[in-house]
Amino acid sequence: MSAAPDIVIQEVCPRDGLQIEPVFVPTAAKIRLIDHLSATGFTRIEAGSFVSPKAVPALSDGDAVFRSIRRRPNVVFVALIPNLKGAERALAAGTNEVNFVMSASETHNHANMGMSHAASLSALEDIVDAFTGRMSINATVATAFGCPFEGNQQERKVLQIVETYLRLGVQGITLADTTGMANPQLVRQRVEAVLGLVPQEALTLHFHNTRGLGLMNVMAAFEAGARRFDAALGGLGGCPFAPGASGNVCTEDLVNLCDEVGIKTGLDLDGLIALSRLLPPLVGHPVSGQVARAGRARDLHPVPEGLSLAG
Ligand code: COA
Ligand code: ZN
Repeated sequence: MSAAPDIVIQEVCPRDGLQIEPVFVPTAAKIRLIDHLSATGFTRIEAGSFVSPKAVPALSDGDAVFRSIRRRPNVVFVALIPNLKGAERALAAGTNEVNFVMSASETHNHANMGMSHAASLSALEDIVDAFTGRMSINATVATAFGCPFEGNQQERKVLQIVETYLRLGVQGITLADTTGMANPQLVRQRVEAVLGLVPQEALTLHFHNTRGLGLMNVMAAFEAGARRFDAALGGLGGCPFAPGASGNVCTEDLVNLCDEVGIKTGLDLDGLIALSRLLPPLVGHPVSGQVARAGRARDLHPVPEGLSLAG
């Protein structure tokens, strides 16, 4: 039995990764991807969403996906939801945990969810009333480090939303950097502040690499005490309702970083790299992950023939 991991990486490629892809990945291929991921050592996989199929056609087959994936007793299968109807569908399909999303930015919440804060929070209250004890409930503050419409989001507003989520009775909180507007300094401040309200094991950080700061932000959050992170295989991902959105922190690049610096993830990097290399044909374009292209740092190359080391 290997030692307990130092951090928990929740794989979000099947949800965040695929939701923005213009091609519809066939249901059977999604199921295969999720089954491979759960065999690679993840204990948490966000396997899809139960949102309006008109809003996100790429994930309209969530019911079939959740019903057919292979269940493993040690893997929590999570679904993103916007409202009560989403929670009902999630329960019916055997979801272990729902991830309710509202943005700190009211403007982005309208763009993404077609709702005010008041309407979203009222939906969450109904979800907690109806589903506590039947599924675990996590709540995400999207645009928690900045909004593409409104810009900077005040810490006080983010903390107030977190407090409201906790008062309503959720079990977990995620801070999401929807369009990669965070930086290590801001991350440190915000994680320290939120850890004053949320236990370490109940807080997840969700970073996008939109401006190349994804892994730096993960490390800053780790140093500030965060231990749970979302990441997507291949670095796929993005919110279809946020201009300029691009991929999540790449799972295999994050695992490679952790392996190099001695942070235990409990994940098999070689297996992840092999899996990531299956993504381009699935989505029809190259993916942004680095280590799957370069190989691991320890994968040495043969010395060129005839190279002389003398003189
Ligand atoms: N699952 C499936 N269908 C849903 C649904 C859900 N969770 N919630 C609403 N719908 C359906 C309604 O039944 C209605 O269907 P109809 O047109 O056939 O009657 C339609 O969607 C519109 O419903 P309405 O309540 O008027 O909502 P809306 O059009 O204002 O959309 C949301 C609100 C929240 C459903 C929609 O904005 C949404 O799904 N957003 C999610 C976006 C997302 O996933 N972003 C990326 C992740 S952060
Ligand atoms: Zn995201």
